[in-house]
Order: sequence, then C-alpha cells, then structure tokens
Amino acid sequence: MKNLRGKVAAITGAGSGIGQALAVSLAGLGCHVAISDNNEAGLDQTEALVASMGVKVSAVLLDVADREAVYTWAEGVVADMGQVNLIFNNAGVALSETVENMGYENFEWLMNINFWGVVYGTKAFLPYLKTAGEGHIINISSVFGMIGVPTQSAYNAAKFAVKGFTESLREEMAIEGYNINVTCVHPGGIKTNIARSGRFGDGGKAGTSDPVKAAKMFDKAARTTPDEAAQIIISGVLKNKPRVLIGADARVIDTLQRLLPTGYQDLLVWGAKRRSK
Ligand SMILES: NC(=O)c1ccc[n+]([C@@H]2O[C@H](COP(=O)([O-])OP(=O)(O)OC[C@H]3O[C@@H](n4cnc5c(N)ncnc54)[C@H](O)[C@@H]3O)[C@@H](O)[C@H]2O)c1
Repeated sequence: MKNLRGKVAAITGAGSGIGQALAVSLAGLGCHVAISDNNEAGLDQTEALVASMGVKVSAVLLDVADREAVYTWAEGVVADMGQVNLIFNNAGVALSETVENMGYENFEWLMNINFWGVVYGTKAFLPYLKTAGEGHIINISSVFGMIGVPTQSAYNAAKFAVKGFTESLREEMAIEGYNINVTCVHPGGIKTNIARSGRFGDGGKAGTSDPVKAAKMFDKAARTTPDEAAQIIISGVLKNKPRVLIGADARVIDTLQRLLPTGYQDLLVWGAKRRSK
C-alpha cells in the first residue's frame, strides 16, 4: 500500500498514546479512521481531534479482550465505512510483578488484552481485508517481545507471543497469495500513559509496587514521543516492512539480543542487583 488516502484504518487503543497519534497521523494523510478504546474519555478526545480533518471517523467503546465485541466492531466498521484496509492491533496494558508473586487474575487480565486482543483483531478483520483486495495488519509487540526482563514475565509472554503470531501470519499471507501485508512493531520506551494505567504487584527485589515511583522511572527512560512513534510505524507500513523498531533504545536492545542472546540476562540481573542495594 503506497498511499493511504481514501483507505480505511481501524485502530484499537486509540484513546491515548501511540493509538491516538496513529489516528491523527493517518487522518492527516487522508485515511479514514475507525477508532476504538475501552476508555470513553480518551476515545472522545481522539474523535474530537480527527473530526475536523476532513476524513470519515467512527468511534466505538470496546474491550479488545471481548472476542464477540471485536467481531461485531469489525462488521460495523465495514457497514459504516464501506470497507477496511488496515487494522492496527495496538491496545495494551502494563503489569509489573514477579512470577512467584503474580496471581492468575493479573496474568490473565494482561494476556487477554495484550495477546488475545491482537488475535481477535487479526482474525475478525482478516476476511474484510481480503474482500477489500488490499490490506495491512499491524500488530504492536514491544522490545519486551525481544528480551525477557525481570517483573515483566506476563508482558514478555504476551509480546513474544505477538511476535511469533505475527511472523507466522505474514508467511501465511504470502503463501496463500493474498494481497495482505503484515508488520510487527517493537517500540522502545514511548512517552505515553501506559505505566500510569498499569498494575503494579510485588516486584520482589527487582521492582517497585509504588506506581508513582514506577511512572517516574518510566518517564525518565521513555525517550520517543507518540507522534514520532506513529510516523515511524506509518513509514514502515508504506514500505511494507516485516518488522519496525522504534527508538534508539529498541535498536540497542536488538543488537544486544543478537550479540549476547543469553548473556544479556546476566547484564539485567547485575543491573537489578545494583539498583536494589
Ligand atoms: N509506551 C511504551 O513505552 C511502549 C513500549 C512498547 C510497546 N508498547 C505498546 O504500545 C501499545 C500502545 O500503548 P501506549 O504506550 O500508547 O499506552 P497508552 O496507555 O497510552 O494507550 C493504550 C490504550 O489502550 C487502551 N486499552 C487498554 N486496555 C484496553 C482494552 N481492554 N480494550 C481496549 N482498549 C484498551 C487504553 O485505554 C489506552 O487508551 C501497547 O500495546 C503497548 O504494550 C508501548
């Protein structure tokens, strides 16, 4: 897809951060947008931002962990907009807790959104992308889908799963000969609300259960703005890149993982022990 003008993009988690920036940037390129989020205030804000940009917009309050609701949304997008060409499976949440301390409720909450939400979005929209004759599926993983990090086991599990799922999907689309491209996105730290709206359990010696402290640490580490992230994702889509890394931190982590595929773990343990002294 070389041009997004007149195309229709569906975006989950569009009420904040990367999803909101994607909606605004896509609308700026003349792409109609179907936005969804489970946060009504955020969704209204994004709808207001794109409303005056001369493209069609539809907004639906939606929990991506609700499979039936995602399928109903996909059907509704096509009914409203006539077709759909791109699905950005972006909605996600954060959770910090050790494996030992993590209850299944938190683990399942995260997997249902960060992994199953991506699967539902992909499978619900796939038939409509085929019908449109030109489609692109963009799944948001993370640099935490490339390396394991203490207190992030659930998030790591979901984001590694998104990577595997998305890479397999890309191969299948090519084998079937469908005109559907697939991109897996691995952002480094992006300055969004994700840490502030996340859950913080007992992170043992490596973590903090103080959400204010955690949000401060995240803000310090996150260097890229959501607008920059959206531009990089859209540029990757237009070039049909299989994988998009966002930020210098993502490139460093990618290199580290290649150079020290298991040794990076020793570095993370060393760093966590030093910080906890
Ligand atoms: N911010 C980062 O540093 C970073 C890094 C790597 C990956 N990511 C990923 O980027 C994606 C976007 O996150 P963000 O940083 O913009 O965070 P954000 O918190 O600013 O935005 C996430 C949006 O998803 C929505 N959401 C949460 N649960 C939902 C649900 N069950 N149903 C529908 N919507 C839901 C939230 O309401 C919010 O509007 C996520 O998948 C996240 O894991 C973020």
